[in-house]
Amino acid sequence: MEAAYKVAFLSNTKLRLMHRDDFPILNQQVNGYPLVYFDNAATTQKPQIVIDTLANYYQTLNSNIHRGVHYLSQKATDEFEIARRTVQKFINAPSPQEVIFTRGTTESINLIAHSFGKTFLHEGDEVLISEMEHHSNIVPWQLACEEHGAKITVLPFDETGTLKIDLLESLLNNRTRIVAINHVSNTLGTINPIKEIIHIAHAKGIPVMIDGAQAISHLRVDVQDLDCDFYCFSGHKMYAPMGIGVMYGKAEWLNRMAPYQGGGEMIKTVTLEKTTYNELPFKFEAGTPSVGDTLGLKAAIDYMNTIGLETIARRENELLAHATQRLTAMDGVKIIGTAEQKTAVVSFVLKDIHPYDAGFIIDKMGIAVRTGHHCTQPIMDKLGIPGTIRASFAFYNTEEEINRLVEAILKAQSMLL
Ligand SMILES: Cc1ncc(COP(=O)(O)O)c(C=O)c1O
Repeated sequence: MEAAYKVAFLSNTKLRLMHRDDFPILNQQVNGYPLVYFDNAATTQKPQIVIDTLANYYQTLNSNIHRGVHYLSQKATDEFEIARRTVQKFINAPSPQEVIFTRGTTESINLIAHSFGKTFLHEGDEVLISEMEHHSNIVPWQLACEEHGAKITVLPFDETGTLKIDLLESLLNNRTRIVAINHVSNTLGTINPIKEIIHIAHAKGIPVMIDGAQAISHLRVDVQDLDCDFYCFSGHKMYAPMGIGVMYGKAEWLNRMAPYQGGGEMIKTVTLEKTTYNELPFKFEAGTPSVGDTLGLKAAIDYMNTIGLETIARRENELLAHATQRLTAMDGVKIIGTAEQKTAVVSFVLKDIHPYDAGFIIDKMGIAVRTGHHCTQPIMDKLGIPGTIRASFAFYNTEEEINRLVEAILKAQSMLL
């Protein structure tokens, strides 16, 4: 457990192997090679401290929360609510009541689209999204718009993968009910200027929901400084277990929104005729939550804080720079997404080689990259490509691993061209 708390701030050379030992899964061979894990945008690996927290919960604390007077139930409830306050502090939310636990970003966005939609979307209204959204921030809004007779409008991006912010103002009008946009694109790596977007939307009285799935492990998020109305993210993309996520929402909206799911926990009183709803955050947390995973999320946040978000970001930027430089220098490799502000995501295509064929050979060399449309089909349609190969980095990756990816690409080119 102690290994997980080895703090960074070491010399540059030591940083190159930053905290690698904390992640037991990385220490294995795949197809006869030491594993290179470059699929961090899909899910990050879990440090031992998170794995231990989960095991410890089930070994010593497992109990249903908020209901029992017995010791285990009260202790589990306390730990669960401490985790909520840890998240609150991590994103600088004004109150723990505005931190709603969900299963992940997808569920958070569905919750907002459903509940905000039910209360605020009407025939002829508009929801503005961007052209670089993950399907999770497209489909829930399509469903809500279909249900309420509203329509989606789209903010496009340019050839570098940068949003055309100058068009934003003209796309917002008195029928726009909400702007729903990602903080960072999972395919292009672009960091969007969300503070500016929020400012422009608020000037017209329009609330903004941010899909923070790809930002939360790379950037410091301060929801008060951003002044966003909603911010969604998944634990599993920030070193926490799968099955836990967060929906932050300003109380002024959450109090006015319809509940999402009905059931235990979210009620104040129930008769066979009528129900009154519980206060925040419980109004949006129907049923038994994933307590162990929530404690795992707390452990992951503590772990990231111990290393330091700035240290993490600095290391990932080094890896991004190395990968960009190596791939740009290669024949037949084109990077997709060259915005000025990026997180450590490098999507690329190979001339005359299908991403799946290349991905197959890269995997045979023990390297986990993602191939395909990455749940962003509209991006692929716009660019006229079937998909990309995506390498996404975390602080535990190394330059040497990127060099191995370059070798694997050369091998794929020599075999497939
Ligand atoms: C930008 C973005 N939004 C939403 C999601 C959905 O996250 P989850 O599957 O954890 O709900 C992802 C997952 O890759 C993502 O990258």
